[in-house]
Amino acid sequence: MIIVQKVNKFFGDFRALNDISFEICKGEIVGFLGQNGAGKTTLMRILTSYYLATSGKVEIDGNDIVRHSLLCRKKIGYLPENPPLYMNLTVRDYLKYSASLKDVEIKKQKMQVDRVLDDCNLKDVQNKHISILSKGYKQRVGIAQSIINDPQVLILDEPTIGLDPLQILQVRQLIKRIEDKRTVIISTHILSEIEQIAKRVLVIKNGEILIDRPISVLLDEENISRFVFVVKGDRNEIEKVFINSKEIISESFDSCGDVHSVKVKVLQNWTNHNELIHKIIRAKAELVEVKKLKPTLEEVFISKVSNQYIK
Ligand SMILES: Nc1ncnc2c1ncn2[C@@H]1O[C@H](COP(=O)(O)OP(=O)(O)O)[C@@H](O)[C@H]1O
Ligand SMILES: [Mg+2]
Repeated sequence: MIIVQKVNKFFGDFRALNDISFEICKGEIVGFLGQNGAGKTTLMRILTSYYLATSGKVEIDGNDIVRHSLLCRKKIGYLPENPPLYMNLTVRDYLKYSASLKDVEIKKQKMQVDRVLDDCNLKDVQNKHISILSKGYKQRVGIAQSIINDPQVLILDEPTIGLDPLQILQVRQLIKRIEDKRTVIISTHILSEIEQIAKRVLVIKNGEILIDRPISVLLDEENISRFVFVVKGDRNEIEKVFINSKEIISESFDSCGDVHSVKVKVLQNWTNHNELIHKIIRAKAELVEVKKLKPTLEEVFISKVSNQYIK
């Protein structure tokens, strides 16, 4: 559905994108991850033909983005970083205007506006001016305009930025509702969000693709394991066991009476379980439970992007 080949983007001498290549299949939901300034917005602007790439090629559904720019744009819905909302219009009028801009047939415009008002839970505020809406509602209006022409490809640039947790949840649920049968690209630096929405991530760093993998594969590759040891006994003695075990880094130590829960991280190939258990026994303590924790995407991301590997 989307083919990107060797795309470069220069702003003057500054290379914002460096030889970016990837393909996204129809119906895939892909997350663009990366720190601020990584190049996510620039790449999205090239995919939506808002910017021209300095070199390289982009195809949307078999059409070259430069030669068939209008055709490509008709297939794409785009929520920019700062959606261009007209504050003095009502929600309904703004969506009607967006429908005409996107060349939705006149006789279908009312139906499409009603559909997106419904999809985005905006019926209650359809006759209110956009200026008086909360940020969460404004963002939903921005998403509504992005799907007004029922696009096959949906590109959402940081859709939950600046929202409170409840608004984030509502926007996330909305994205899940509208992603059906579409190819979706969503950029964010909220990793838990990507884990819940996308199946694949492209991690961008300094204008280059650092990682392009399914999230499940990425999580399996993590070279750090985390365990929780629940140990019963004297706190001081148990603390000493963990502090003095070289390959183990204690991350937290929570006690309830004489039962202590110690969260640790170790390298994935760590095999000295027996030695640790012997030390616990020698400390006259009892090992009650050991749990292996699944790595979160956030941990994987931090270790890959900032190279903060276990020391
Ligand atoms: N129009 C522009 N002119 C000059 N530099 C730009 C422009 N747009 C983006 N940049 C630079 O390109 C880099 C990537 O920016 P951007 O794509 O906005 O990153 P992200 O969306 O990942 O935060 C940044 O260093 C930014 O300052
Ligand atoms: Mg950005």
